[in-house]
Amino acid sequence: MDIFSVTGGAYIVASLLFILSLAGLSRHESAKSGLTYGMVGMTVALAMTVLLVLDHALDTDNYLSIVLMLGAIGIGAVIGLWRARIVEMTGMPELIAALHSFVGLAAVLIGWNGHLEGPHHGGSLANIHEAEVAIGIFIGAVTFTGSIVANLKLSARIKSAPLMLPGKNFINLGSLVLFAILTVLYVGTDSRDSASADVLLVVLTALALALGWHLVASIGGGDMPVVVSMLNSYSGWAAAASGFLLGNDLLIVTGALVGSSGAYLSYIMCQAMNRSFISVIAGGFGIEAPAGADTDYGEHREVQAAEAADVLANASSVVITPGYGMAVAQAQYPVAELTAKLRARGVDVRFGIHPVAGRLPGHMNVLLAEAKVPYDIVLEMDEINDDLPDTDVVLVIGANDTVNPAAAEDPSSPIAGMPVLEVWNAREVIVFKRSMATGYAGVQNPLFFRENSRMLFGDAKDKVDEIIHNLPE
Ligand code: TAP
Repeated sequence: MDIFSVTGGAYIVASLLFILSLAGLSRHESAKSGLTYGMVGMTVALAMTVLLVLDHALDTDNYLSIVLMLGAIGIGAVIGLWRARIVEMTGMPELIAALHSFVGLAAVLIGWNGHLEGPHHGGSLANIHEAEVAIGIFIGAVTFTGSIVANLKLSARIKSAPLMLPGKNFINLGSLVLFAILTVLYVGTDSRDSASADVLLVVLTALALALGWHLVASIGGGDMPVVVSMLNSYSGWAAAASGFLLGNDLLIVTGALVGSSGAYLSYIMCQAMNRSFISVIAGGFGIEAPAGADTDYGEHREVQAAEAADVLANASSVVITPGYGMAVAQAQYPVAELTAKLRARGVDVRFGIHPVAGRLPGHMNVLLAEAKVPYDIVLEMDEINDDLPDTDVVLVIGANDTVNPAAAEDPSSPIAGMPVLEVWNAREVIVFKRSMATGYAGVQNPLFFRENSRMLFGDAKDKVDEIIHNLPE
C-alpha cells in the first residue's frame, strides 16, 4: 500500500471527525466530546501531512525540509501550549482573533508561493491556478488585517467605537470592484515571466490588507460578536482557497466546514441581535454615526451587600443575568453557591442568558457549567423575558449592554433594535459593577437610574461572597 492511499483514507477519517466535532459543539451537553473529536481529527490530519512530507523529503534526499518542518512544528507547538495554558477565559476572543489572523497570513503566503512557483499546467488550467492565487491572497489578506483589528478592539487596545470614514460604503464597494478588475488583469497576464503580474499581485495584496482593516474598524463594539464569527468564516474560506492551491483535499473540506459553519453562526447571531447580515459583512453598511448626545438620566441609588442579602432572603423568585463582569471577577463560583443556598430556602432561582453576553458565544453557559449550576435553570433570553414582570428580584452580575433599555426604547442609540434582557420589568433590580462606567458598546445604561434599580458597587465576586456571608440563617 503506498503512502498516498493511506493518507487519503486518513483524510476521510479526519473529515468525518471534524463533522462529528461540529455536531457535538452544537449542544452544551455534548460540547466536550465535540472537542475531543476535533482534537483527534486534527492529530490524524497533522500526523498524515507530516508523514507525506517526510516521505517526499526522504525520496528526494531533501533533509533540510525535514529539519525546517520539524523545527516549525516544535516552535509552533511550544508557543501554542504556552498561550493556551496562560490565557484567561476573558482573553479567549482576542486569542481566537489572533489565531484567525494566522490562517489569513498563511493563505497570503501560500498564494504568493503559488504565484512564484507558477502553474503546473498550461492552457485554461493555468488560468484557474492564477484565479485561485488571486482569490486566496484576497480572502487571506482581508482575514489577516481584519482579525488584527478585531484582536486590538477585543483587547481594548483600540477603541471599540466604529471608524466612520466619509463615503465608507463606497470605499468598500470600490475595493471589491478594483479586486475584480485586478484579478481579471492578473489572470490574463503570464504570471511566470511578467513583472507586471508581480505588480498586479502586490497591488491586490495591499488593497485586500487595507479593506480587511477598514471593514472591521467600521463596525461598532455591540456588533463585534458577529465580526468574530464572520472572521472565523473568512479564515475557513482562506484555508479552503489554500487547499485548492496546494491540491490538498482535507484542507478544502476543513476550510469549507469552518467557512460555512462560521457563516451560519454569523447569520444566527445577526438574527438574535436584530442586525442585517449584509450590513455587518459589508463593514457596517447603512449604519450612520450615532447622535452622541450624552443624556442626563438623573441620580442612581445604591445598596449594600447586607441589605441585598435581606432582599434575596425575602424573595420568592430571583433571576440572575450574568455578563462580562462575572467572567472578569470569576464570580461564577460564589454565584453558584448563592444559587444553591437560595434554592435550599425555597427561592425559585433561574438564570437569563443573553446570546452575546460576555465576549464569546456561550461564554456565560461555559462559566456556569464550570461552577456546576444545573442546566435546567439556565434559560435563554427569549425563554425568560416574559417571566421578568413576575420576578421579585433580578441580579445583574457584571452585565451592561445586554440589559440596556435604550436598545428597546431609544432609536438613536448605537445598540437600538438589539434585543435585550428586559430586567427593568422586574419588581426590583440589583446591579453588580464597580463604577458607573459604560459597557463594551460604550453607551450609558438608563437602567442604572430607574426607580426600581439599585447599584451594588465593587468586584462582583467579593460582593456575592459578602451576600452569602450576610444571608440570614
Ligand atoms: P458589557 O456590556 O461588556 O459590560 C460588562 C460590565 O461588567 C461593565 O459595565 C463593567 O462595569 C462590569 N465589570 C467589569 N469587571 C467587573 C468586576 N470585576 N466586577 C463587577 N463588574 C465588573 O457586558 P455584557 O452585558 O455581557 O455585554 C457584552 C458586550 O460585549 C456586548 O456589547 C456584546 O456585543 C459585546 N461582545 C460580545 C461578544 C460575544 S460573542 N459574546 C464578543 C465581542 C463583543 P465596571 O467597569 O463599572 O465594573
